[in-house]
Formats: sequence, structure tokens, C-alpha cells
Amino acid sequence: MRLDIWYIALALLMLLVGEAFGEWMARAHDHSLALVHSHLNVVGWASFALFGLIHRSFPVLASSRLALPQFLLAAASTVFLIGGLWVIWAVGDPFGAIVGAYGLLAATAMFVVMFFQRVVFAEERRV
Ligand code: HEM
Ligand code: HEM
Repeated sequence: MRLDIWYIALALLMLLVGEAFGEWMARAHDHSLALVHSHLNVVGWASFALFGLIHRSFPVLASSRLALPQFLLAAASTVFLIGGLWVIWAVGDPFGAIVGAYGLLAATAMFVVMFFQRVVFAEERRV
């Protein structure tokens, strides 16, 4: 599974949905769901595109055993975070958003470990 391609593909889909949502908010003059829109764009588009481009820049990352779990956790957590922000707006229950938030934090920590193990320390050993 090419994680660079999948990260960028998901990022593009979330940009499309995020922008469509923004257009809707602007037309409806209803900004009450701005948090859903902003996080679809900044987490879904910007952060996922960067994860994908970092994978592309450092292909050695794909050889990490953490790579696939990291991708799956980030994708699932983003669904929980964004769905959960909507649920907070609709019924006030923060549970899903909290699950998504901790999941994303864990996925980010896994990416940090992968990057330091496979890139930063590997480079140190070479010089
Ligand atoms: C077709 C494209 C877009 C439209 C029509 C649009 C529309 C909007 C609207 C109507 C708001 C609500 C403003 C408010 O409540 O103050 C908003 C907020 C926001 N948008 Fe977009 N947006 C678009 C694309 C993007 C993209 C691509 C990003 C990020 C990469 C983005 C990031 C944000 C952020 C961070 C906020 C929250 C700003 C705040 O709360 O002050 N938007 N957008
Ligand atoms: C663990 C995941 C995250 C959670 C739980 C989270 C939660 C929140 C919350 C609760 C707010 C509203 C703050 C307020 O109105 O006082 C907020 C705003 C914002 N967050 Fe996040 N966030 C997360 C990740 C991120 C990331 C990764 C980015 C950027 C790449 C980001 C960018 C923003 C921006 C630009 C705003 C202000 C825009 C707005 O009010 O709509 N967030 N976030």
C-alpha cells in the first residue's frame, strides 16, 4: 500500500468536502459549523497532505512497522474528530471528538517516532 499516495488522495477528498462545506456556510450565512469546516481543511487537507509529502520525500519511512498503523489511526481519528465536532454542535456530546483528538495525538506521536528512527538517527549514524 503506497501511503504517500493514500495520504494525498484522502487530503484531496477532504479539501473538496471542506471547500464545499465552506461555500455552503457562506451562502447560508450560517457559520455555526465553522469548526467542522476549519478542521476538515487544516487537519484533513493540510496535515494529511504534509504527511503524504513527507512520506514521498523520505520513502524509507514506509519500511517502518509503525507506518500502516499510523496511517490507519490518523484516518480513523480524523473521522472521529470531525464527526465528533459535528456531534458537539448537534447534541453537545464531546465523546467522539475526544476519541478523535487523542487518536490524532497518538498518530502524530507515532509519526514523530518513525521520523526520528528512520530519518534523523539513521542520518546521524551515516555521518
Ligand atoms: C471554497 C473554499 C472555502 C470557502 C468558501 C470557505 C469559507 C469559510 C467560511 C464561510 C468560514 C467561516 C468564517 C467565520 O465564521 O468567521 C470559514 C472559516 C475558516 N476556514 Fe474556510 N473556506 C474555504 C476554504 C478553506 C481552506 C482551503 C482552508 C484551509 C486550508 C480554510 C480554513 C478556514 C479556517 C481555519 C476557518 C476558521 C477561521 C475562524 O474561525 O476565524 N478554509 N471558511
Ligand atoms: C487533536 C486535534 C485537534 C483538536 C481536538 C482541536 C480542537 C480545536 C478546538 C476545540 C478549537 C476551537 C477553539 C476555540 O474556539 O476557542 C480549535 C480551533 C482551531 N484549530 Fe484545532 N484542534 C485540533 C487540531 C488542529 C490542527 C492539527 C490544526 C492545524 C493544522 C488546527 C487548527 C485550528 C485552527 C486554525 C483553529 C481556529 C479556527 C476556528 O475557530 O475554526 N487544529 N481546534
